[in-house]
Amino acid sequence: MKILVTGGAGYIGAHVCKALKRRGHVPVVFDNLVYGHREFARWGEFVEGDLADVPAIGAAMKEHRPGAVMHFAAYTYVGESVGNPSKYYHNNVAGSLNLMDCARDAGVRHVVFSSTCATYGVPETSPIAETHPQRPINPYGRTKLVIEGLLDDFDAAYGMRSVKLRYFNAAGADPDAEIGEDHDPETHLIPLVLDAAAGRRTNITIFGEDYDTPDGTCIRDYVHVYDLADAHVLALEYLINGGPGAAFNLGNGLGYSVKEVIDAARRTTGREIPVVMGARRPGDPARLVGSSAKAASTLGWSPRYAGIETIVSHAWKWHTKRFGAGKG
Ligand SMILES: NC(=O)c1ccc[n+]([C@@H]2O[C@H](COP(=O)([O-])OP(=O)(O)OC[C@H]3O[C@@H](n4cnc5c(N)ncnc54)[C@H](O)[C@@H]3O)[C@@H](O)[C@H]2O)c1
Repeated sequence: MKILVTGGAGYIGAHVCKALKRRGHVPVVFDNLVYGHREFARWGEFVEGDLADVPAIGAAMKEHRPGAVMHFAAYTYVGESVGNPSKYYHNNVAGSLNLMDCARDAGVRHVVFSSTCATYGVPETSPIAETHPQRPINPYGRTKLVIEGLLDDFDAAYGMRSVKLRYFNAAGADPDAEIGEDHDPETHLIPLVLDAAAGRRTNITIFGEDYDTPDGTCIRDYVHVYDLADAHVLALEYLINGGPGAAFNLGNGLGYSVKEVIDAARRTTGREIPVVMGARRPGDPARLVGSSAKAASTLGWSPRYAGIETIVSHAWKWHTKRFGAGKG
């Protein structure tokens, strides 16, 4: 079955295309390359197109007749979304509405959507389950929550069943190092730490070491992008097999602090990683860890690469291949 993958030239979408191909599905990437990389779209056909361009989406649907849509395309920078929410509502919300209208008109019945733990806002309990209240604290998170509602409404009215996957921190790289993380600008901790290890930046800043955590730095749930990709294929197969619309957290349930990630990177790379202490950033909770028990019991998902050492070592293998090993 052909699957239209919006944002399939980006970090997570590209890994999912590889996983789809491995499981006998046929990905077709739809991406405007604003942040994606043409060479990442290598496990199926590629359509260069923008979700603002309704005729282009319609033409892709008509040509490829996908049986399902996987929707990754979005702007994802929280800070930028605070300063320029209009950009985020246009691209994320209006773009998703265009996509869903075209998918409905083309008879698509199944949708897998990239949502985020940012829809929960400040955690009231830990680990966070899907039943936790969704009160996002920034426009990025709010756009994702609006899209979740849009998908539920399209299910109720048009019978388009969807799975909303709420990722925690996607990390790591393809174990074969064929693809990996390459964002510009990069805001994610592990690639920034590896940049510091390779001498591509002089140091890494830790934002706050007075949180209520064992070493004082923020704890996050890092989920290997290979495992995320696996979950998408399981979610697709769940929908094909008649599963009702649902939302699932995808994390590995193990939180690691910023200092633990940096220490893992020091061990993996054997490099010095200079650290600078900075002030807390507004809106950063001390601990964001998800429970993925529902994905385990309903989808049969179990992360294969849960340990931080493996996540960082796969990321380093990709990082040195893409950017060079830098100083020794
Ligand atoms: N990376 C994470 O840790 C994380 C966590 C939670 C949720 N997510 C969500 O997962 C999805 C993928 O994240 P990522 O890290 O791979 O991001 P990414 O920026 O690497 O990929 C997004 C892709 O979408 C494309 N795109 C953006 N707007 C488009 C448009 N209007 N038309 C066509 N293509 C467009 C970009 O060119 C890019 O290739 C996003 O929806 C993001 O919100 C990511």
